Amino acid sequence: MKTLILYYSKTGFTQRYAQWLAEDLGAQCVPYEKRKTVRLSGYDAIAFGGRLTAGVIGGAKWFFQQAPGLSGRRLALFFTGAMPPDPEAVGKAVEQNVPQDMRGRVPAFYLQGGLCYEKMGFIDKAMMAGLRKMLASKKAPSPEEREAARMVAQSYDMSARENLHDLEAYLRG
Ligand SMILES: Cc1cc2nc3c(=O)[nH]c(=O)nc-3n(C[C@H](O)[C@H](O)[C@H](O)COP(=O)(O)O)c2cc1C
Repeated sequence: MKTLILYYSKTGFTQRYAQWLAEDLGAQCVPYEKRKTVRLSGYDAIAFGGRLTAGVIGGAKWFFQQAPGLSGRRLALFFTGAMPPDPEAVGKAVEQNVPQDMRGRVPAFYLQGGLCYEKMGFIDKAMMAGLRKMLASKKAPSPEEREAARMVAQSYDMSARENLHDLEAYLRG
């Protein structure tokens, strides 16, 4: 079975999950920037991975535009973020990023990553600074807001290879 892992990553969390997947499944691993160099229809299974920024999964829109031309292939979406794998928040991200007619066809898997300030670009850093300022300005923060403020204060890495278990089982069929 030929499997392709395509990923959109800026600070490396999604890339690392994509590389682990490729190793475990013997799949080809291709970054988003090189997506036009691969013929998607030449694969039996394709997993697309993107990072979540302000609720948007990078590259997912493009992936779902390709999906109608890939009937008969096993497709999956995975996405990384800083948040813990809370089912409600994950469900919201899926609702926002997976078109309704694709939800039965393309399962989505959330893989917790973390934050890496050292590798963020200028815009990412500025957005995170805005978020930190907003959280710090709360006069009576809720427990969730207090926890969020603590979590965005510095870099951290919660990625773990075992998080890939369900996605790998799905891709293997
Ligand atoms: C500007 C910005 C916005 C973010 N928004 C979210 C978010 O809405 N939810 C979340 O869980 N993580 C959010 N994150 C954290 C990233 O999703 C997380 O660091 C991700 O694993 C990065 O993937 P990458 O290393 O492959 O680029 C955000 C990070 C940045 C820099």
